[in-house]
Amino acid sequence: MNAPGGSLLVAEDVRKAYGPTMALDGAEFSIHPGEVVAVMGPSGSGKSTLLHCLAGIVTPDSGSIMYNGRDLATMSDAQRSQLRRSEFGFVFQFGQLVPELTCVENVALPLRLNGTPRKQAERTALDWMQRLEVDDLGRKRPGEVSGGQGQRVAVARSLVTNPRVLFADEPTGALDSLNGERVMELLTEAARTANAAVVLVTHEARVAAYSDREIVVRDGKSRDMERVI
Ligand SMILES: Nc1ncnc2c1ncn2[C@@H]1O[C@H](COP(=O)(O)OP(=O)(O)OP(=O)(O)O)[C@@H](O)[C@H]1O
Ligand SMILES: [Mg+2]
Repeated sequence: MNAPGGSLLVAEDVRKAYGPTMALDGAEFSIHPGEVVAVMGPSGSGKSTLLHCLAGIVTPDSGSIMYNGRDLATMSDAQRSQLRRSEFGFVFQFGQLVPELTCVENVALPLRLNGTPRKQAERTALDWMQRLEVDDLGRKRPGEVSGGQGQRVAVARSLVTNPRVLFADEPTGALDSLNGERVMELLTEAARTANAAVVLVTHEARVAAYSDREIVVRDGKSRDMERVI
């Protein structure tokens, strides 16, 4: 796979074993600033493991992951978690909102953790909730909103710190197709507005259709899939 100059995040020959299971067996990946790349492949093929390695959550056994010219392996745990907090955003399938907090408090949380005063953090949070069309849900708790609304709140939270890379693992996996499409429309539009690159793990072709490029992971190996748009 090509890893051309100007790539923001590049993985080369990444291997990761869990006991006898080779979750990644020479995976390659690259993404440019602002690009939306779908990572596809069957269940158990290594998609989530690849995403976790790219995000510095899981350390590969071998191979390299370079973010903005820096090798993640040369960074300390504290530097990697600082990188995740300041440069990366995350959206998962479900269960990511804090149930005790209101929706606006959930969206404001990453800013609060970075030391932003409450009022300012909630103002910025509401701006993002407006873009995701959930600003009317600010005072509700996650248990009081629908699945699609909850995912849009989660997308707002993932973008509130203006990350350079948004990692999304099956962000619409728990939604029906109509809600899934709306979340994808708003997610990709918001990411493009913010010029955030998106690593989008999905096994659904209609979700991958929102990407600029697709890669397929099989048995821990990845390859580019040519797309005709
Ligand atoms: N923490 C772990 N401990 C042990 N084995 C693991 C762990 N994480 C993943 N695996 C194994 O590694 C392989 C790849 O898993 P991974 O979660 O990356 O697959 P996936 O492509 O995301 O699948 P799905 O589409 O079902 O989410 C699987 O065989 C899985 O069982
Ligand atoms: Mg997975």
